[in-house]
Amino acid sequence: MGKGTGKVVLAYSGGLDTSVAIRWINEKYNLDVIAVTVDVGNEKDFEVVRQKALRTGAIQAFIADVKDQFVGEFVFPSLQAGTLYQNVYPLATALARPLISKVLVDYARKEGASHVAHGCTGKGNDQVRFDVSIQALAPDLKIIAPVREWRMTRDDEIRYAQEHKIPVPVTAASPYSVDANLWGRSIEAGVLEDPWNEPPEEAYAWTINPRFAPEEPTYVTIEFERGVPVALGDDPETTQRLDGVTLVSRLNELGGAHGVGRIDHVEDRLVGIKSREVYEAPAAIVLHAAHSALETLTLSREQRRFKEIVATEMAQLIYDGRMFSGHFRDLSYYVASTQRSVTGTVRMRLLKGQAVAVGRRSPQSLYDFSLATYETGDQFDHSAAEAFIKLFSQGLRTQARVQLGAGSSQEIRRLVAPSIDEEAH
Ligand code: ARG
Repeated sequence: MGKGTGKVVLAYSGGLDTSVAIRWINEKYNLDVIAVTVDVGNEKDFEVVRQKALRTGAIQAFIADVKDQFVGEFVFPSLQAGTLYQNVYPLATALARPLISKVLVDYARKEGASHVAHGCTGKGNDQVRFDVSIQALAPDLKIIAPVREWRMTRDDEIRYAQEHKIPVPVTAASPYSVDANLWGRSIEAGVLEDPWNEPPEEAYAWTINPRFAPEEPTYVTIEFERGVPVALGDDPETTQRLDGVTLVSRLNELGGAHGVGRIDHVEDRLVGIKSREVYEAPAAIVLHAAHSALETLTLSREQRRFKEIVATEMAQLIYDGRMFSGHFRDLSYYVASTQRSVTGTVRMRLLKGQAVAVGRRSPQSLYDFSLATYETGDQFDHSAAEAFIKLFSQGLRTQARVQLGAGSSQEIRRLVAPSIDEEAH
C-alpha cells in the first residue's frame, strides 16, 4: 500500500479494533496509515505487533519505548502528588494517555502526517484524554477515531477483518476490555458490568487471590529521595538503587504475589456514566502507602491537609485528560515544592492482600521523641496547654453563649444530629 492522499499516525495495539482501523481508515479516508505502538510497559511482544501492522496494511510501523519517561515524568510525579481518583484508582490508564498522545504527535511531525488516529470508543474517558491532549499539543492535526465513528459490532468487525484478510486473533477473545501499563491493569466490561457480580478470578492476571497468598509476610524497605522511590531492599541494610522502571516492575511482582493491589470500584466517568471498574495495581498501592507514610513524618499538618486538597484536584485533572494545562502545571509546582523534605525510608509489610507501613524514618523527620513521649524525658510544656485552649476556644465560647443556647439535650441534637425531616418546620 502507499497510494493515499496523505498520512495518518495510528496508535496501534495489535488488537482487533486497531487492526480493522488500518484498513478502514485507508478505505474511508484514503490515507496511508503509519502504525505506532507505544510501550508504556504493557507486556506485549512488540515485534509481533509491529509485523502484524505491516501485514495488515500499514505503510510503516514503529515501536516507541517510553517506559522511562512514563515512570519518570508521569507516574512518579503522580505518586509525589498522591493522586488517587475517587480515593482508590491510581490512574494507570489515565496517566499514559497524554504521553501516548505526545508520541503520536511527534511521529506525525516527523513523518509529515496530517492526521492522528486512536481506537477509542465514544463512551469512555480515553477518547477525551487523547483528543484533548492532541489538541493541546498540535491544534492543526486532525483526529480520526474509527471505532467511535464506524459503529460496528464485534461480529461486524470480524466479518470485515475476514473480508480484508486481516489476521483475527485465534485465541478466544477476552471477555473483558483490558488496558495495562507499568502502573496498573484496568479491567472492564463482560460480567463486571453488573456491579453486584463479584469479579471472577480470571479477571485478574497480576495478583494472586489473597486467600491463596503466602501465610508469611514479605517485608520490603523502600528509600525515597524528595518523594521519588530510588531504592528497594529486603531490609534497610541491603537496599539497592534501581531505576524507576525496574523498581516499579519489581514491586508489581512482590505485591502481586501477596494479592496486593486489587481494586473493585464503581467509578464516575467524565462522560457522565457510572461504570464498574476493576484494577490491579500492586506497585502503585505499595508505593502510595509508603510515600504517604513518609509524608506523615516529614510534612507539617498544614502541608498534609492542603496537599490532600491539591491531590484531589490533580487526580481529577489527570482523570479528565487535562494534564497539559496551566492549572495542572501550577499545582505540580506546589507538589514539587512540598517534596523537598520527603526523603527517608519506609518499611512495608506485604501480607494477604494488604500493604502496610510498619516503619518509617527520615533525616527530615518532624517527629520529636522528647515532645511525643509519655515516658521520662518529656520536654513538652504542659503548663502552656491551659492558656492555649483558652484562646483557642475564645470565639467558639462567644458563639455558644449568644447563638447556640444553653445546651439542653434537644439543642445538642439540633447541633450535631439534625434530622432532615425537621427541615420543613
Ligand atoms: N476507567 C479507567 C480510566 O478511565 C480505565 C479505562 C480502561 N480503558 C480501556 N480501554 N479498557 O482510566
